[in-house]
Amino acid sequence: MRGVTLTPLPHCNKCKGGLGVKRELSVPLLELKNVTKFYHGTTPALADVSFSIAKGEFVSIIGPSGAGKSTLLRCINRMIEVTSGEVSVDGVIVSELRKRNLRKLRTKIGMIFQHYNLVDRLTVIENVLHGRLGYKSTMAGVLGRYSQEEKRHAYRIINLLGLEGQIYQRCDKLSGGQKQRVGIARALIQDPKMILCDEPIASLDPNSARIIMDHLKNVSIEMGITVIVNLHQVNVALKYSDRIIGVNKGKVVFDGSPNALTAEQISEIYGSDSKDMMVDLGERYAI
Ligand SMILES: Nc1ncnc2c1ncn2[C@@H]1O[C@H](COP(=O)(O)OP(=O)(O)OP(=O)(O)O)[C@@H](O)[C@H]1O
Ligand SMILES: [Mg+2]
Repeated sequence: MRGVTLTPLPHCNKCKGGLGVKRELSVPLLELKNVTKFYHGTTPALADVSFSIAKGEFVSIIGPSGAGKSTLLRCINRMIEVTSGEVSVDGVIVSELRKRNLRKLRTKIGMIFQHYNLVDRLTVIENVLHGRLGYKSTMAGVLGRYSQEEKRHAYRIINLLGLEGQIYQRCDKLSGGQKQRVGIARALIQDPKMILCDEPIASLDPNSARIIMDHLKNVSIEMGITVIVNLHQVNVALKYSDRIIGVNKGKVVFDGSPNALTAEQISEIYGSDSKDMMVDLGERYAI
């Protein structure tokens, strides 16, 4: 991805924050307090991590392989349990939720994965509608019962993501970039407050990667949805983020705006891998 040209987005100025219609960057949506995670052994995958993320904020998490980026995302929707500390979403402490309420919380958190996690033999619209399953009884879900309004909404989102030509295409016939757009559409139909993306562009060519990042940025700006993205590419994080969190060996070693990220801090985040990650910081606005 290094050296890739990422063009600016056609953002909607009305929603850009001037009117404060959608983004409320001062209202916390996610809070982590002293979160520590041990899988086994004595080295924590996350060590005493604390931060707060606002409604509509676009945050990139960067760090070398094994730093704890995926672990961090998985603790947020309780795909894994924290060993100690507290995660709250929208004022609710995630670890205290029991079945029904946990399920309810998860409907508010969309997930996007590197390998898309789609059902290959199903069509685009069927995969997108799967995003509504969290709202349904098991039986309605098994029978694939969706209301007309849900189907209309799915069409609208599919159009928004430029997939109208593929709506009845099986997902195994799509390109990687198209599959990831289906992943975004499936997250959006959940009507989420937050979308967690684990390496969403790691398997994509540069142009498809730019399209996916543009869509994610638009989701945060136009819809006021908080977007948290694990990334390997520093230049992409610099270009798209309101804020970057740098993780090394389970610890947050940088938390600030892209403008504040220096070459020394990149070295601290990436340690011995930092040479591979260096970007021309003088060119940060030209990316
Ligand atoms: N299920 C697991 N069981 C045991 N150890 C794990 C498990 N998942 C992750 N780890 C360990 O926790 C640490 C953090 O892993 P994690 O996958 O969160 O890193 P990452 O920053 O996402 O790495 P990558 O960039 O390679 O995806 C690593 O040392 C990893 O080996
Ligand atoms: Mg990972």
